[in-house]
Parts: sequence; C-alpha cells; structure tokens
Amino acid sequence: MNVLVTGANGQLGSEIKDCQHQFKALNLVYADLPDLDICNEDAVNTFVTINGIEAVINCAAYTAVDKAEEDAETAKKVNVEGVFNLVKAMENVNGKLIHISTDYVFDGKKSIPYNEEDTVRPIGVYGNTKREGELAVINSSLEGIVIRTTWLYSAYGNNFVKTMMRLGKENKKLNVLFDQTGTPTFAGDLASACLAILSNEQNRIDKAGKVYHFSNEGVASWYDFATAVMKINKLDCEVLPIETKDYPTLAQRPHYSVLNKTKLKKNFEITIPYWRDSLEKCIQKLNS
Ligand SMILES: NC(=O)c1ccc[n+]([C@@H]2O[C@H](COP(=O)([O-])OP(=O)(O)OC[C@H]3O[C@@H](n4cnc5c(N)ncnc54)[C@H](OP(=O)(O)O)[C@@H]3O)[C@@H](O)[C@H]2O)c1
Repeated sequence: MNVLVTGANGQLGSEIKDCQHQFKALNLVYADLPDLDICNEDAVNTFVTINGIEAVINCAAYTAVDKAEEDAETAKKVNVEGVFNLVKAMENVNGKLIHISTDYVFDGKKSIPYNEEDTVRPIGVYGNTKREGELAVINSSLEGIVIRTTWLYSAYGNNFVKTMMRLGKENKKLNVLFDQTGTPTFAGDLASACLAILSNEQNRIDKAGKVYHFSNEGVASWYDFATAVMKINKLDCEVLPIETKDYPTLAQRPHYSVLNKTKLKKNFEITIPYWRDSLEKCIQKLNS
C-alpha cells in the first residue's frame, strides 16, 4: 500500500521514518512544506495521482498553540481546510486516512480519563481548529479515523524533553507546573501504532467508529515529567513545582488531559508502553 505521510519533517513524521522498516507491507511516501502544502487542493490531488497514494497519515498541522491565538486564519487554513483537501483526495481514490488530533478539543475539566464519546469543548483557537478538522473526517464517507493524542515529544523538533535537557544543563533550579495533568507520549509509539493500523488490511480501519485516543500509559504532571527527564539524564537541577497562575501563557491549556485508550488497544490489538519506559528510550536515542 502506498501511504503518504504529510508534515513528514515534524515530530511524528520523523518518528514514522525511523520505524518504517518494521512495516514492510507499506510503501511510505514522505512530503512536507514547501514541496506539498496540504492547503493547496490541486497540489494534493496531483501528488496523490502521480504517486498512486492509497492512504494518508496526516501529521501536518499548525501546532503553535500560543501563536494560533493571534493567527487564527493560518491555524484554520492548515488544521481545517488542509484536512478537507486530504479527505476529498482520499474520497476520490477510495483511500484511507489517519488524521491526528489532540486532547485540546476538551476543556480539561474532567478528573477521570477522557473517552472518545466525551463532550468536546475546546478552550482556544488551536483546539477549535483541530476540532473542525476532526469533523471533516468524522462527517465524511471516507474510510478514515481521527487519533487524538497528547503531550507529544520525540527525538526531533522542539519539545518539552529537549527543552528540559537544555535548561537542566544551564540551571541549578527550574520552576515547572504541577497543576496540569496528562500523559507524556513518545511520538515513536504513536508512529508504530499508525503503521500497525494501516498494515492490518483485513478490516476497515473505521469499523469500530471514527475517533480513537492514543497516549502512553500512566499519568503525570509537567513537574513529574521534568523530574523524570532530569533523573534519567543525571542532571543536577532541582525541579520546583509551580502553579499555572504563576506561568501565564497566551493560550489557556486544559488542566486535565489524560486519555482513555481502551478502544484503540482493543480494536487494533495494540500494546502501549508506560510513559517513563518510552521516555528512557527517547532520551537514549537523543544521547546516542
Ligand atoms: N506536539 C504535541 O504536543 C501534540 C499534542 C497533541 C496532538 N498533537 C497533534 O499531533 C500531530 C503531529 O504533531 P507534531 O508535534 O509532530 O507536529 P509538528 O512537529 O509541528 O509537525 C507538523 C509538520 O507539519 C508541517 N506543516 C505545517 N503546515 C503545513 C502545510 N500547510 N502543509 C504541509 N505541512 C505543513 C510543519 O512544517 P513547518 O514546521 O515548516 O510549519 C511540520 O513539519 C498534529 O496533528 C498535532 O496537532 C501534537
């Protein structure tokens, strides 16, 4: 199967490149800006035709959460119009689509893990555009699914793990939020899950519904996450817990982002690693 990976130079796209050798049935074709802009409908259709694309993993997104508050137009273009273009292109060839979304579609007011049927209520521009993008897939006749994920990090791009490693080397003390709870999620694990789902061609990927949740197992605050990064790297930096009110940002973040992954694990028979184990794996990769 010829599979297009959009936004291929981002965190998830890069981790897909690293694990593709484990999924020999898939012929992965990678594209990112400036070569393929998902907002350009004609370019998407031409790319799909020329390369005989039969499925897409959409890793392309406008992911700058704070910037989106001041540039809603661009965020909407990429996270909504871009997704519509991919949906239409796959509808034209009877193809499949795995679209990646986010816990930011929820308001974070729950205190037990969010499942797929929970009411969505985004609290910022980024979350709103990601929700609209989800609807493009959900309301289509396409064999497509939305996988919501959360607190993504990887060996690539800018992310919390790399920032903590840098700051941990430069500082003796670091203030980190302890009142936002979620699950650190290694993009390498999500990459493997997406490829495993597409590798199993026996069933329609959307036979059990269009929305799934994926994160690593377990729960942490940003403080726990930062402390684990320091510990694994043996960095002599004390992490101090602070509250969200003492670290103002342009966009509001959900206070609780833990996702219930039962549906994805059961339907696709996927085993998900514990977040600390995957964190060690990623840090090993970064330090090697
Ligand atoms: N990062 C997180 O913590 C997190 C959490 C939950 C969900 N997610 C979701 O997970 C998915 C993957 O996230 P990620 O962290 O891998 O994102 P990322 O590292 O920001 O990668 C996104 C990629 O898409 C590219 N892109 C932007 N606009 C595009 C366009 N119009 N056409 C084609 N490509 C375009 C970006 O290029 P440029 O860099 O040049 O803009 C970048 O290479 C996204 O859907 C995101 O919403 C992320």
